[in-house]
Amino acid sequence: NNYAIIMAGGIGSRFWPMSKESFPKQFLDVLGTGESLIQMTYNRLIKVVPAEHIYIVTNENYKTLVMDQLKIASGQVLTEPLRKNTAPCIAYAAHKIYNLNPDANLIVAPSDHLIIKEDKFVDIINKALARSEKDDCLVTLGIKPSRPDTGYGYIQFDNESDLLMGDVKKVKQFTEKPNRELAEIFVKSGDYYWNSGIFIWKAATIIKAFEKFKPELNAHFTTKGNDYNTENEQAFINDAFLACEDISIDFAILENAKNVYVVLANFGWSDLGTWGSLYAHLEKDVEGNAVQGDGTFLFETENCIVKLPDNKLALIQGLHDHIVVESDGVLMIVKQEDEQKIKGYLKEMKANK
Ligand code: GDD
Ligand code: MG
Repeated sequence: NNYAIIMAGGIGSRFWPMSKESFPKQFLDVLGTGESLIQMTYNRLIKVVPAEHIYIVTNENYKTLVMDQLKIASGQVLTEPLRKNTAPCIAYAAHKIYNLNPDANLIVAPSDHLIIKEDKFVDIINKALARSEKDDCLVTLGIKPSRPDTGYGYIQFDNESDLLMGDVKKVKQFTEKPNRELAEIFVKSGDYYWNSGIFIWKAATIIKAFEKFKPELNAHFTTKGNDYNTENEQAFINDAFLACEDISIDFAILENAKNVYVVLANFGWSDLGTWGSLYAHLEKDVEGNAVQGDGTFLFETENCIVKLPDNKLALIQGLHDHIVVESDGVLMIVKQEDEQKIKGYLKEMKANK
């Protein structure tokens, strides 16, 4: 009864200019391992669920990219006509799979993360699947926070263990992307994890949660419930996406639900969400610079990420804690501490174009 949903419709805008709308981060080999992030995600998941039970939810524009990279059947790629964030993406996949198997137990995974200890990943996922199978609960995987990052969800856990399973903890409060002050308090308090963005729940359980907290959104995905897994599915789904709210699963469900649990996921996780989090995983020279580009020369420069094309001759002097990236003729130079602002700057640039 185990299935997996890979969410692969985001555009990774904080990773601009390497990640772009036409070729987002999840399809890139950002670490230089020979595999894109979505390929790594898929190869991890086939260790816990049968390959034919893995569904990718993505924008219709990326369907061929997904099929090329994963070599899977077209029926396993669910497409959205426009981006409405992760709640509609999950609602769609949950209803579709529920129609195939009402007992389905789902792993919902982002397509763009790094997980280093794969054996541990398999153990933890199996533990979470065992817990979500037992009753109606929403299981999250939590990461020990190392800094007051405002790009994550924060999970406050109850120190008393779950009665059913020892190392699963009950969640007191889920707070998506808090402001800096709150994030600092959360990290200091010691009873918060970051939300890894990987969730485990039965299709029936998440559908119940949608019915309760987002009835309108849910209704768009049930009006023509008989059309799932027929040739009419895409037309019905396209209408549902046009009409439904744009909201993430974190705000729509996890901040509101009472039956949320968390398992500590110490499997070497990194949401390669920003240049800074990638920097942590790249090889650095003695000055702390992670440099790519044969023609790049650094002088009196420290703790920078520099990623320039090989055919570019570049001299950089006196730069500290910056990100310097060129991709397809687009150059970006940003202070590392301001990388969360890239998303907003891009919006402004688009508006003023
Ligand atoms: N199909 C589809 N459609 N996928 C989407 C969409 C969409 O409209 N929007 C985003 N995704 C995919 C992204 O490609 C990514 O794999 C995943 O869903 C999560 O979306 P992000 O946009 O990267 O979310 P986030 O990083 O801001 O926040 C989430 O992840 C954090 C951990 O990395 C939240 O769950 C946070 O609570 C969490 O801490
Ligand atoms: Mg992300």
